[in-house]
Amino acid sequence: MNPLDFIYNRKSVRLFKDTPIPKEVITEIVKAGTYAPSPKHQQNWHFVVLQNKELITQMAEIVRASHERIGQLAKNEKDFKRHMSVINYYTCFKDAPVVILVYGCPYNMIEYKILQENDAPANVLEMLQSPQSGAQGIGAAVENMLLAATKLGYGSCYMTGPTHAKSEIEALINFEKEGYELMAMVALGEAADHTPAQPPRKPLEEVLTFID
Ligand SMILES: Cc1cc2nc3c(=O)[nH]c(=O)nc-3n(C[C@H](O)[C@H](O)[C@H](O)COP(=O)(O)O)c2cc1C
Repeated sequence: MNPLDFIYNRKSVRLFKDTPIPKEVITEIVKAGTYAPSPKHQQNWHFVVLQNKELITQMAEIVRASHERIGQLAKNEKDFKRHMSVINYYTCFKDAPVVILVYGCPYNMIEYKILQENDAPANVLEMLQSPQSGAQGIGAAVENMLLAATKLGYGSCYMTGPTHAKSEIEALINFEKEGYELMAMVALGEAADHTPAQPPRKPLEEVLTFID
């Protein structure tokens, strides 16, 4: 057994059993999320847990409708159909017993403000912002939750697709936190008996460079 198996065994699960997850387990998974690194330890996240089946179904319907609405921008029927063919990628949280909505607020970079006040050129200001550190912190928190879920025997899926319906989702769940916006969601639950295998990885030689 490899001690990193919980990393190597994680995969995106998009089919779930109905079995509810105990609140303590959900809390533990979110806690693992909060142990992620964040830029200057600003912990720029907020987690909203949904377990209400009806609410989750309604949210999937809202996302489907939003996806369809956006798809109407396609200039022909063929492209509209291609757009709609990936709908499951946006709504596969619909059967999950738990959905964790991950809200984030921008990283407050003091150096940026200082340089801005000192009329630094736009290209320097852009360069400082290019790592999108706030979003990276959210990604770190989500990955911690996915790994915790895997270790605890649950399936999960990291999803940003549904966020195009963020304002409708906010209205549905009646949640708002000033300065925060929906960045991602995590579908969580016991994996169905048969779920697709983890897709293969690029060979390490292709993505790894040692400079000695
Ligand atoms: C930032 C991010 C956003 C993602 N958004 C979605 C999504 O909206 N819907 C979805 O089904 N999967 C989504 N995924 C999951 C990826 O499709 C998945 O991680 C990838 O195909 C590799 O498969 P694996 O997770 O099983 O290893 C997302 C993953 C990341 C990192």
